Amino acid sequence: MADIVDTRTDAAAALERACEALSRGVPVAIPTETVYGLAADATDPLAITRIYEMKGRPRFNPLICHMADLAMAEQHAVFDPLSRALAQAFWPGPLTLIVPIRPESAIHPLARAGLDTVGIRVPAGFASRLLATFGRPLAAPSANTSGRISPTTARHVADDFGDRLELVLDGGPAAVGLESTILKVEGDTIRLLRPGGLDVSEIERVTGRRVQRNEKAGAAIEAPGMLASHYAPVAPVRLDASDVKPGEVLIRFGGAPLPGEDAAALVLDLSPAGNLAEAAANLFGYMKRADATGAGSIAFSPIPETGLGEAINDRLQRAAAPRG
Ligand code: TXA
Ligand code: MG
Repeated sequence: MADIVDTRTDAAAALERACEALSRGVPVAIPTETVYGLAADATDPLAITRIYEMKGRPRFNPLICHMADLAMAEQHAVFDPLSRALAQAFWPGPLTLIVPIRPESAIHPLARAGLDTVGIRVPAGFASRLLATFGRPLAAPSANTSGRISPTTARHVADDFGDRLELVLDGGPAAVGLESTILKVEGDTIRLLRPGGLDVSEIERVTGRRVQRNEKAGAAIEAPGMLASHYAPVAPVRLDASDVKPGEVLIRFGGAPLPGEDAAALVLDLSPAGNLAEAAANLFGYMKRADATGAGSIAFSPIPETGLGEAINDRLQRAAAPRG
């Protein structure tokens, strides 16, 4: 089993151990405000190869490179004025920007899957301290085996990887609970490549521009990770349920009971008060709890499509998609 070091009580030890492992080219699981990441030196091809191998991730699917701040990001990529304004408004935070790589950047092409762009994010909390100390960008996909639910606690990560992982830094439950929102600026247009932990209406309010969504989520795989069956629990998922079948797990929203709850295997409420940020933070952990019951299926009651509901519903649709 991986060593788990608590960043809240043992910050100095966590920094030292993580930097030591990263310098050896060994991936380390780190907390971020969105989900836990499996981090490796983005300039080290062997370390990046280890990430792909540990996750079982297709190599055509590029990784997000994490930076300590915008200044570090600008050393590696070219920021047009609108991308820079987005970075200044929302970093550190749950936003990834796709920007052109600088030819002189030491970020290895393997981390970018050979693309001439790079996905960059400045995370909040302990991860930014680690990045500042380590001094190089960290490539970090979510710290889960490919196709599985992203981890929102150190325990999820340790359980998924077992002996295959050396070190997990524990920063407590992820505050946002959904992966970052991915944007790409094209001229005057801001394109949404993945809805996530940063609410699109907030981006529109701050920039005064409409964010352009893909016609059909997952249809054009511009962010190649957006494969339909992603974020899948083991049990089949039933969406927009208005009742619960005997033996099913119900994951509902907003506090109202559904018919059939008495015969359910388990009933969880993402946010009894109807708060979408709370629902986002609980979503992946509740899916894992639902799976742990061994129930034959998981029913979800409808979730509003407003605000963070867009990203929550995106993940639910992927969880319910036919398995490849
Ligand atoms: O919140 C997050 O974004 C988390 C934490 C750990 O930061 N990371 C995460 O990484 O969700 P991952 O690898 O699971 O998702 C990365 C997504 C993929 O869909 C990938 O295709 C897209 O980012 N991506 C990365 N670089 C890209 C690029 N140059 N062009 C288009 N899409 C890119
Ligand atoms: Mg992922």
